[in-house]
Amino acid sequence: MALLLLFLLIQAPFHAQASENITLGSTLTPQGLNTSWISSSGEFAFGFRSLESNPAVYLLAIWFNKIATKTVVWYEHTNTTVPAGSQLQLTPGGVLSLQDPAGELIWNPRVTNVDHASMLDTGNFVLFGKDGSIKWESFASPTDTILPSQVLPKGAVLHSRLMDKDYSDGRFVLSVELDGNLRFYTLAVSSSSRYDPPYWDSHTGGNGSSLVFNTTGSVYYTSNSGQPFKITSENLDSPADYYKRATLDADGVFRQYVYPRKSAQTSVLNTEWRVMDYLPQDFCKAIAAEIGSGVCGFNSYCSFNPNKSVECECPPYYSFIDSERKYKGCKPEFAPHSCDLDDTESMQQFSLLPMININWPFGDYERYNPIGAIVGSVFLKVPRTSTPGSQLSSNSNTWKKERSRKKSTQVQSINYEALPLRAFTYKEIEQATDGFREELGSGASGIVYKGQLQDEFGTGIAVKRIDKMLAETEKEFAIEVQTIGRTFHRNLVRLLGFCGEGRERLLVYELMTNGSLNGFLFSGTRPTWNLRVQVALGVARGLLYLHEECSSQIIHCDIKPQNILLDENLVAKISDFGLAKLLRKNQTQTNTGIRGTRGYVAPEWFKNIGITSKVDIYSFGVILLEIVSCRRNVELEIADEEQAILTYWANDCYRSGRLDLLVKGDDEAIFNINKVERFVAVALWCLQEEPTMRPTMLKVTQMLDGSVTIPTPPDPSSFISSLQ
Ligand SMILES: *[C@@H]1O[C@H](CO)[C@@H](O)[C@H](O)[C@H]1NC(C)=O
Ligand SMILES: *[C@@H]1O[C@H](CO)[C@@H](O)[C@H](O)[C@H]1NC(C)=O
Ligand SMILES: *[C@@H]1O[C@H](CO)[C@@H](O)[C@H](O)[C@H]1NC(C)=O
Ligand SMILES: *[C@@H]1O[C@H](CO)[C@@H](O)[C@H](O)[C@H]1NC(C)=O
Ligand SMILES: *[C@@H]1O[C@H](CO)[C@@H](O)[C@H](O)[C@H]1NC(C)=O
Ligand SMILES: *[C@@H]1O[C@H](CO)[C@@H](O)[C@H](O)[C@H]1NC(C)=O
Ligand SMILES: *[C@@H]1O[C@H](CO)[C@@H](O)[C@H](O)[C@H]1NC(C)=O
Ligand SMILES: *[C@@H]1O[C@H](CO)[C@@H](O)[C@H](O)[C@H]1NC(C)=O
Repeated sequence: MALLLLFLLIQAPFHAQASENITLGSTLTPQGLNTSWISSSGEFAFGFRSLESNPAVYLLAIWFNKIATKTVVWYEHTNTTVPAGSQLQLTPGGVLSLQDPAGELIWNPRVTNVDHASMLDTGNFVLFGKDGSIKWESFASPTDTILPSQVLPKGAVLHSRLMDKDYSDGRFVLSVELDGNLRFYTLAVSSSSRYDPPYWDSHTGGNGSSLVFNTTGSVYYTSNSGQPFKITSENLDSPADYYKRATLDADGVFRQYVYPRKSAQTSVLNTEWRVMDYLPQDFCKAIAAEIGSGVCGFNSYCSFNPNKSVECECPPYYSFIDSERKYKGCKPEFAPHSCDLDDTESMQQFSLLPMININWPFGDYERYNPIGAIVGSVFLKVPRTSTPGSQLSSNSNTWKKERSRKKSTQVQSINYEALPLRAFTYKEIEQATDGFREELGSGASGIVYKGQLQDEFGTGIAVKRIDKMLAETEKEFAIEVQTIGRTFHRNLVRLLGFCGEGRERLLVYELMTNGSLNGFLFSGTRPTWNLRVQVALGVARGLLYLHEECSSQIIHCDIKPQNILLDENLVAKISDFGLAKLLRKNQTQTNTGIRGTRGYVAPEWFKNIGITSKVDIYSFGVILLEIVSCRRNVELEIADEEQAILTYWANDCYRSGRLDLLVKGDDEAIFNINKVERFVAVALWCLQEEPTMRPTMLKVTQMLDGSVTIPTPPDPSSFISSLQ
């Protein structure tokens, strides 16, 4: 009697709720009258339900039966797509088995000698033995959800489903670990192996034991010492009033939910499960890991609102690999850029789009310490132009539309999509320059105006209006300009686009905010020696590129301080290159007319010999001396006549070993007098009368940076006299 009483006490919670025992021989089928077994109070059901995502297949599950949405709390996860015609039977022999229409076993709980089964009002489906013992229960084989009164012992796991409506195994696991800690891991979908480190860890130092969802609705982790570790905050809503569950959701967040019973009873359909608490608190940061594709897949980012699911988003110019399954990540909508591009080319074709408060924590190429900013931003490298056939997202397709429109209304024979430059309409340029209001300067080829594009970056532009254009057709102009447009280098001013409408010939350049070398060198305060050295090296590199590194050689023909511009970081950039060819096609090989500027032109312009890249070397020599001494080449008003022409005076100073005179009052330069000497020697080589005596730009750069020794340059004056 005492034994029986004890037995009844132990079994009391189950027996009290189990009004209906499921007897041996009972069957369920996905279709028909008997599709599920319902608990005595009708709260829970065990059986088949068709999938929302594919009503032709079924899931064997347990769900809240009184809630309109029939929220699933357990499912048979080895096969989540059971075909119609399958059958679940508690066989007369005492085995529960799920068979497909052909009679093949799909699933069974691997227990025998079952006496009867019961769907309990706790949500637990139990197989009992003859002696009333529990042979199998769904609470002991949980999937992604635990319910009040359910306990997960050491070794148990919750495994999220793949998506809200896809019950196959997902990407996250909650593990009540044998070592006394509770941890959440991400899983590799293909292999289900766990990624380390966990994205949440109870850090209970081995003292934890089992995860409990008690009947009043608190979720905690019991410890050996008796003091439980809180997992979610205490939920004081009465179980009499609320349904409760805690689920490791498909997005990897462990959420505790409540649902008011009375809304279920009154069938208020739009009442939803309310999130009471969740883990981890800062999901997107917690989940960030160095290895694996992360919660949202490659090229994506994560945003988190605990009440909704974690959102995976694609950056601009990227789209989901599979918009139904966003966790697979994003792919760029532009062609990957060639590794052949140097930094400048890459900056030409790509721009950096700021994204506020977003970080890819392990994607840094470089990190500066200390980092003071609280709000993080990343700069995303995106293409400046769209690639053919790409589908840009709505906020970035203006350009694309613009270009397409242009294509149909302008020079139809040219495939602009294949070319790097943008064709502007005259109207656009008129707007961007506010009616050609602000002049930046004027040169041999035309007037330059300041402007600003109405693009997302508000790009500053300098518009050169060419007035001495030879009568070329729009098409020829466009093609010629595209050649310039393909010339990219850090030390060249970038051509952004052009306009060749009617008689207008406009070139649109990036705006250089720090003016020209002319202002830099000659407008009062002397720039520091180091800065000047940087500028000289920059000009040299730009010229080297034009002469020797771009696909077809470009001779500038008008290198002078006004044509060397400085960007906001004082990086020297050569402007107006390529125009020689554009302006007078027949001019570079025969000297029918002089292009160039007094004081900077090479002597051969006045002789009947061919013009080569060595004319630029000469001009560079002049500029180099100007940079060293911070004075103009020709200063006729100067008191000492011997100093009036810098190229002569520098030669004199060099020959007499008095280079200090050239940099008088410039302590920094005097301190670096060896470098001053090196630079002057290079300049004197560049200034050789005979073009073939002048070094190539490659040699110039090597001599400037000291990687080759510099022979003493021949005295130009003596060379001239020896020639004569
Ligand atoms: C269910 O089975 C148990 C034995 O496991 C029995 O004690 C109980 O009376 C049965 N309940 C019903 C309603 O048949
Ligand atoms: C449904 O189940 C009940 C009780 O187990 C049984 O009497 C009935 O025959 C079943 N109906 C069908 C169509 O299987
Ligand atoms: C599920 O079971 C059906 C029937 O046996 C089978 O055709 C199907 O391939 C199974 N699916 C999985 C994912 O095992
Ligand atoms: C685990 O238990 C030991 C012994 O009771 C205690 O010293 C230690 O602080 C506990 N660790 C944690 C993380 O609670
Ligand atoms: C459930 O846990 C909470 C918090 O630990 C506690 O206050 C409450 O009494 C517990 N309920 C039961 C039925 O043990
Ligand atoms: C989430 O929902 C709760 C109430 O259910 C609300 O208090 C809270 O502000 C919501 N949080 C967010 C981020 O929307
Ligand atoms: C260069 O430009 C930047 C930004 O336009 C400005 O702050 C800086 O003073 C300029 N430097 C010189 C030397 O002109
Ligand atoms: C060369 O340029 C001159 C004007 O600078 C022009 O008169 C002449 O026709 C051009 N020759 C050719 C072959 O284009």
